[in-house]
Amino acid sequence: MKTMNRYKNKILQGNCVEVMSEFPDEVIDLTVTSPPYDNLRNYNGFSFQVEEIIKELLRVTKKGGVVAWIVADATINATETGTSFKQALAFMEAGWNLHDTMIFRKKNPIPQIYRKRYNNEFEYMFIFSKGVVKTHNPILVECLHAGLQLNGTTYKNYSKNLQKRQKLAKPVGTHKMKGNIWEYVVGKRKEDQDAKAHSAPFPCQLANDHIISWTNPGDLVLDPMCGSGTTCKMAKILGRDFIGIDISDEYCEVAKQRIKSKIVEEELTLFKVV
Ligand SMILES: C[S@@+](CC[C@H](N)C(=O)[O-])C[C@H]1O[C@@H](n2cnc3c(N)ncnc32)[C@H](O)[C@@H]1O
Repeated sequence: MKTMNRYKNKILQGNCVEVMSEFPDEVIDLTVTSPPYDNLRNYNGFSFQVEEIIKELLRVTKKGGVVAWIVADATINATETGTSFKQALAFMEAGWNLHDTMIFRKKNPIPQIYRKRYNNEFEYMFIFSKGVVKTHNPILVECLHAGLQLNGTTYKNYSKNLQKRQKLAKPVGTHKMKGNIWEYVVGKRKEDQDAKAHSAPFPCQLANDHIISWTNPGDLVLDPMCGSGTTCKMAKILGRDFIGIDISDEYCEVAKQRIKSKIVEEELTLFKVV
C-alpha cells in the first residue's frame, strides 16, 4: 500500500512525474510551483512533460485542493510563445477549475534590451482548483478611505438578477480583501539570498502568501519542480508539511541546505503563521 509518511518533509531527486506516481491519490492540499519557462534556462538535461505533470497533480491533489502555477513566456522570433495560456488551457482540459488568474508584479523588473515593446514586469500566477476551493484564508489590506461616510455614494448590486444601485450608508471599514495582483521585490530581500545558487527562484514572500491563503497549519504542500526549495522552506516556517522534487541533483542539494539551515529569528517574525 502506498503511504505518504516516507516522503513528507523531504527533498526528492527525480523526474516529478515518476516521483508523484509513487504517491497515493488525493493527499496534497496545495502545490506552489513554477515550471521551466520555454527552455529559457538550461536546467542540466531535464525532461518536461507538462500534460503528464498536470494529470499526476490532479490525481494526488485532495478535493478542493489548489495548484498555484507561476509562469511567463519567452519571446522567440519576435512573438511571445503563449506557453502560459496553453498550459492554463491544458489544466482546464484535464479537469481543473481555473479558479483565478493572478499577477506576480515585479517591483524591480530586469530592464529589457529589446526596445520595441514595454518592459515586461509581471508573470502569471494561475490558481487551479480541484472542484470548489476548500481553504481560503484571505490576506487583508488597509482600506484607502477607512472610516469615510459614504452617504451620498451608491454601489452596484452584483446579484444575478436585475442589477440596481443601492445607497450604502455605513462608513468604509478599516480592512478589505487584497486584490489579485501581488507585488514583490525579486532577489534583493535578505530572506532570498540563500537561493542565489539557482537561476530563477521566486521570492519567499510569494510562497508565504500562497501557503497562508490556501492551507492551514499541518496541511501538506508540494513543489514538484522545487529548484532552490523556496516553497518547502516557507512551508516549514509556516508549520505545514512539505515535499520538494527536482530533477537536478545540484538544486536538490541547494534546497536541502536551505531547509536544514537554522531559520533565523528575523524570518520567523517576518512571516506570520496563519
Ligand atoms: C523555474 S525553476 C523553479 C525555481 C523555484 N521556484 C525556486 O524558488 O527556486 C524550475 C525547476 O524545474 C526543475 N525541473 C525541470 N523539469 C523537471 C522535472 N521533469 N521534474 C522535476 N523537476 C524539474 C528544474 O531543475 C528547475 O530547478
